[in-house]
Amino acid sequence: MPTKVLMVCLGNICRSPLAEGILQSKLSKDICLVDSAGTGNWHAGEAPDKRSIAAAKNHGLDISQQRCRQIKQSDFSNFDYIYVMDNSNYTNVLAIAPSETSKSKVKVILNELHPNQNLEVPDPYWGNSNDFENVYQILDEVCEVIAQQIKSKKITV
Ligand code: 4NP
Repeated sequence: MPTKVLMVCLGNICRSPLAEGILQSKLSKDICLVDSAGTGNWHAGEAPDKRSIAAAKNHGLDISQQRCRQIKQSDFSNFDYIYVMDNSNYTNVLAIAPSETSKSKVKVILNELHPNQNLEVPDPYWGNSNDFENVYQILDEVCEVIAQQIKSKKITV
């Protein structure tokens, strides 16, 4: 069974679609399945923000087929790990988590690189293409760590 990872941000159009595309590109689908969602529902059904699509394309990734959706209760049982981009996402996701087991799956993504610091992936929505490239670089670095963790767990179990 592949490890299942859900990436979560506010809108599911800027940060979490990039996180989904980047982590999935590092792991085959028999090892890990990655999806993404937003805490909000304003963009449900839409493709990612065109600036996220462009940032991914600059690095050889096509995220244009992703479609935005809101996080839902069944995500807490369907996914093994739920990574959030910032502290407000963390508060909002924990608030709808149906159990203690569900809560334990929710992690601030940059804590995988900088443990316990609760650093945030900056929201590039009001920014420019440089801000999207910066988010890409941050997510690429942390997704490399997560990919190694998942691979090593697959070897030991
Ligand atoms: P995201 O960015 O959470 O990284 O997808 C945002 C996208 C949309 C909005 C805010 C943040 N919005 O207000 O519509």
